[in-house]
Amino acid sequence: VPLRPYNSFGIVARAQTLLRVTGEADLRQLAEDRQLAAAPKFVLGGGSNIVLTGDVKPVVLKVEVMGRRLVSQDDKAWIVEAGGGENWHEIVRWTLAQGYPGLENLALIPGTVGASPVQNIGAYGVELQDRFDSLDAVDLATGRVFTLDAAQCAFGYRDSVFKHVAAEPGGFGLAGKVLILRVRFRLPKAWKPVLGYLDLEKKMAATGEQHPSAQQIFDWICDIRRAKLPDPRVIGNAGSFFKNPTVSREQCADIIARDPKVVHYLLADGTVKLAAGWLIDACGWKGKSVGNAGVFEKQALVLVNRGGDANPVTGGEVMTLARAIQTSVYERFGIRLEPEPVVV
Ligand code: EPU
Repeated sequence: VPLRPYNSFGIVARAQTLLRVTGEADLRQLAEDRQLAAAPKFVLGGGSNIVLTGDVKPVVLKVEVMGRRLVSQDDKAWIVEAGGGENWHEIVRWTLAQGYPGLENLALIPGTVGASPVQNIGAYGVELQDRFDSLDAVDLATGRVFTLDAAQCAFGYRDSVFKHVAAEPGGFGLAGKVLILRVRFRLPKAWKPVLGYLDLEKKMAATGEQHPSAQQIFDWICDIRRAKLPDPRVIGNAGSFFKNPTVSREQCADIIARDPKVVHYLLADGTVKLAAGWLIDACGWKGKSVGNAGVFEKQALVLVNRGGDANPVTGGEVMTLARAIQTSVYERFGIRLEPEPVVV
């Protein structure tokens, strides 16, 4: 099965077997088939946060669990549920149209609802964990369905229990073991806009709007993202390719002494987050290419497929470029950048 249509980089790779999962019944069937039950599995959502470096040997489970509904509400919040296979942006749009605001800062993030907890998607001051209620997942080994709350998901910056393997020290990771069927969001009725970000403040200044609605913020976020991030349908990419690194205050002071312009944010725990895009840009990578893998000209944190349809980038080329960037950032700043997408 060609996987090209199922990854936003547009990398050419094949799967030996691809099964579409529309609900629990498909997974019960799978658990009853001895050979399939025993085979390693790879869960595929929207394919917008993966780099395929070769053919995929595990059985690919394409999540196509659909559905959206208001589960319940009380004085404080609406609890809204969406199927793992639903398109993320469509769900954000739908919640707003229904009158349940709260996800607007996460507009236009590519991918599916089921993938959103895996990397705890975040943008413009809101992370999934801030609006998360719980999720239903299925244990791929047993077919058993279970529910996890936010604490059990162990959310961190672009991180969760779903990104870790159990073998890690102190780990109880679920990577490769479960499939996320449905996610529930908790959207408070006392809605407060999250504005703080420079890009949003510029929009407020430009429009003179002092009290934007959730819909207004949604529109602004869409504008901002369209202006600096490549549309994967036009130029293949997987969003930010590296996480923004965290350093100690001392380390940051060292860097500022040499590079006064380094973009940094003080975190609540006293450490400092640096803008990886700035570091990569400072090393001169913006607009550069290695083979068909390129660094996007408007955002150095995004690696893109320059070969298009005719001559698509390979996962190897993407990783070669990524390593070259890691080396130069390390040599100049002493910082090891960590890739953000899942490398398969
Ligand atoms: N910058 C540069 N040069 C560049 C890129 C960025 O100087 O080439 C500077 C910018 O001027 C800005 C700072 O770096 O001062 C941060 O840039 P930006 O606001 O674009 O955000 P980011 O840190 O690069 C993060 C997320 C994005 C998210 C935005 C907005 C990560 C890894 N990335 O990017 O998430 O949309 O903030 O909240 O945390 C993603 O994860 O795929 C993603 C796109």
